[in-house]
Amino acid sequence: MQFSIFKKNLDNWQGNSLIFGIFDEEIESQLENIKFIIDPKILIKKINKKKFKGEKGQILNLEFLNQKLETLIIFGLGKSTTIEINDVQSYLAKIIRTTVDKDEKISILLPSELINSKEEIRSYVESARLSAYKDNRFNSKRDEKKILQEIEFLNLNKFENISFDETEYLCEGVELARRLVAAPPNSLTPLEMSIEATKIAKEHGLEIKILEKNECEDLGMGAFLAVAKGSDLEPKFIHLTLKSKSPIKEKIALVGKGLTFDSGGYNLKVGASQIEMMKYDMGGSAAVLGAAKALGAIKPDGLEIHFIVAACENMINGSAVHPGDVIKASNGKTIEINNTDAEGRLTLADALTYASNLKPDSIIDLATLTGAIVVALGNDVAGFWTNNNMMAKDLKTASSQAGEELWQMPLQKSYKDGLKSHIADMKNTGPRAGGSITAALFLEEFFDKNIKWAHIDIAGTCWTDKNKGIHPSGATGYGVKTLVQWIKNKR
Ligand code: BES
Ligand code: MG
Ligand code: ZN
Repeated sequence: MQFSIFKKNLDNWQGNSLIFGIFDEEIESQLENIKFIIDPKILIKKINKKKFKGEKGQILNLEFLNQKLETLIIFGLGKSTTIEINDVQSYLAKIIRTTVDKDEKISILLPSELINSKEEIRSYVESARLSAYKDNRFNSKRDEKKILQEIEFLNLNKFENISFDETEYLCEGVELARRLVAAPPNSLTPLEMSIEATKIAKEHGLEIKILEKNECEDLGMGAFLAVAKGSDLEPKFIHLTLKSKSPIKEKIALVGKGLTFDSGGYNLKVGASQIEMMKYDMGGSAAVLGAAKALGAIKPDGLEIHFIVAACENMINGSAVHPGDVIKASNGKTIEINNTDAEGRLTLADALTYASNLKPDSIIDLATLTGAIVVALGNDVAGFWTNNNMMAKDLKTASSQAGEELWQMPLQKSYKDGLKSHIADMKNTGPRAGGSITAALFLEEFFDKNIKWAHIDIAGTCWTDKNKGIHPSGATGYGVKTLVQWIKNKR
């Protein structure tokens, strides 16, 4: 997708679809802004006839079929005093989604009141691109479909030299995450995930290490490997490193849960547990690889960033882990697996231990870890836990800048009792109540306590069944924007 700014005199402009935003006050004078298409006196008659008043979210489609323009899409912005960037973003998203199959190019004309800074413009560009996303990979008729190729802005002359490079890198990262999450489990396997990581490394000059099963055995990763045992597919432990050329001031590790499919294992997912959706159980690793792709292109100064994914499937066969097995993680701790469906935390146990051994200043892990977080916060808000107040503050700031909702949850120490085992150092599953909190407390056992750490449970936010804000239905790519923003804020 390409972004462009029309810089010539508007009288010379022509196009297919023009999206035009107006406030609900003094409509007639606002129509002066598109007099290069149509006489405002004629247009106001059409508008009045259709009872369009410029109210928030109101949309009016006018077919022109004249030489300059085919379709004019006017959308209401409500009061100029109460409008917020988020509103503009979601109105644009809604309109773009309806034109994405029809046009190869669309044009946007916003009132100058909405164009105050480069950041504002970039946020429109970002939402336009992310809402235009379409996944036709698995559709046999994909070559016959038209897709949107270019978004053009008509009144940005003030910001003629604005660069959209970083916006583009970020969107590419989000789109990669969406593609990975939406890919079916027979297509995105652990091997395929390692190939995707290798592509990122080659493209942006990151170091890459893929540990095979025997190397994971040598490192004593009994927790990760226990999960992988019941699958015919080889597990892959993926480690990418992005090192800036300038002196390193801070070391960071980003860890993502990478279950390319979670059947539940012998605690099989039955009934309403949506086993058929468990291709998205690698949403955390998708966010981490999406961030790697974006940051690989952005190349932040003074940082060494590690991207870590323990990728495997949770399946059933004669060698699969039994409910009741006791295994040993790479930090030496023993775990009684009282539920094979609490597998994500087992893979993360070894991934966090590995990250911790790299001695980073901070670790963030992202995981589609528990159904309990979906019950607690629903599908619009992710939950996070941290052992550090600064980390909490910085993550909240980054997520709100990124437009990804995030809510802090407690590391309630008294719930640790729920993980006590009679036979091993701990169980992998606590009681139903507070299930996402015991999961976070479990993870806390697998890294050096001096490292700043945050865990983000994205089980509710990595997928949406309906169009939501700037996200078309399907994989959202949740987490990429917050991670990249959190890193960018270190500049
Ligand atoms: N991948 C699931 C969590 C999940 C549930 C993600 C729903 C997305 C939507 C995870 O591995 C899991 O099965 N968790 C169990 C834990 C339980 C056995 C303690 C759960 O949440 O039911
Ligand atoms: Mg599970
Ligand atoms: Zn899972």
